[in-house]
Amino acid sequence: MQYQAVEMSVFEAILARRSVRCYTSQAVDNATVRLLLEAAVHAPTAFHDEAWAFAVIQDKSELRLLSDRAKPLFINELRRSGRSRSEHALEAFSDPAQNIFYDAGTLIVICADSMSPFAAADCWLAAENLMLAACAMGLGTCVIGSALPALNVATIKAGFGIPEKFSAIAPIVVGYPVEETKPTPRRQPYILNRIPVEQQ
Ligand SMILES: Cc1cc2nc3c(=O)[nH]c(=O)nc-3n(C[C@H](O)[C@H](O)[C@H](O)COP(=O)(O)O)c2cc1C
Repeated sequence: MQYQAVEMSVFEAILARRSVRCYTSQAVDNATVRLLLEAAVHAPTAFHDEAWAFAVIQDKSELRLLSDRAKPLFINELRRSGRSRSEHALEAFSDPAQNIFYDAGTLIVICADSMSPFAAADCWLAAENLMLAACAMGLGTCVIGSALPALNVATIKAGFGIPEKFSAIAPIVVGYPVEETKPTPRRQPYILNRIPVEQQ
C-alpha cells in the first residue's frame, strides 16, 4: 500500500479537502482503492439498504475514450438546462484536448440500486466519506458530474460492468496531487432562524 497517512482530525480533513484537477502519474494501488471503498460503505444509509455499488476504472486510455464520449453528451445537457453560467463550460467541453478526468488514473463510479428510495442520498454520503478518507491519506479527488450523462447510457454502463438496475450517481477521480490546491471560498452558513446566544 502506498498511501501517505496524514495526521488530521475529521474536521481538519473536511477543511483540507479540495477538488484536485492535476495528478502525478503515480497509480493508486488496489489496496488503497479498497480502503477508500471501506470508508465509503460506512456512510449512513436509509433503511439500512446500503444501496450503493462501485465500478472502479483504472485504465487511462479507457478514461480518455470515456471523456471523449462524455463531452458532447454533457454539452447537450448544458444546452437543455439553459444555464446562464454555462458559456465558459461549453467552450471548455468543446475543446478536443480537454480530458474531463484530468488524466487521473483511477475513476470510482458510485452507483445506486434504483430499487431503493434514498439510493442517491446513500451514494452521495458514501462519496463524501470516500473523499475525506482520500484526503487524510494524502490523495486528491474530484467529483466528475460531467461524466454522468455518458455513464448512464446503457451500452457504456454495460461496458464497465454496471448492471441495468444500477444508475451512476457519483463519479470520482482519485490520484496523487501534483501540487497544493487553493481552497475555494465559501459563504458563511446562512442561518434561517435565530440561534439563541449561549450563556457563559
Ligand atoms: C455534483 C458535483 C458535480 C461536479 N462535477 C464536476 C466536474 O464535472 N468537473 C470538475 O472539475 N469538478 C466538478 N465538481 C467539483 C466542484 O466544481 C467543486 O466541488 C467546487 O468548485 C468546490 O470546490 P472544492 O471541491 O475544491 O471545495 C463537481 C462537484 C459536485 C458536488
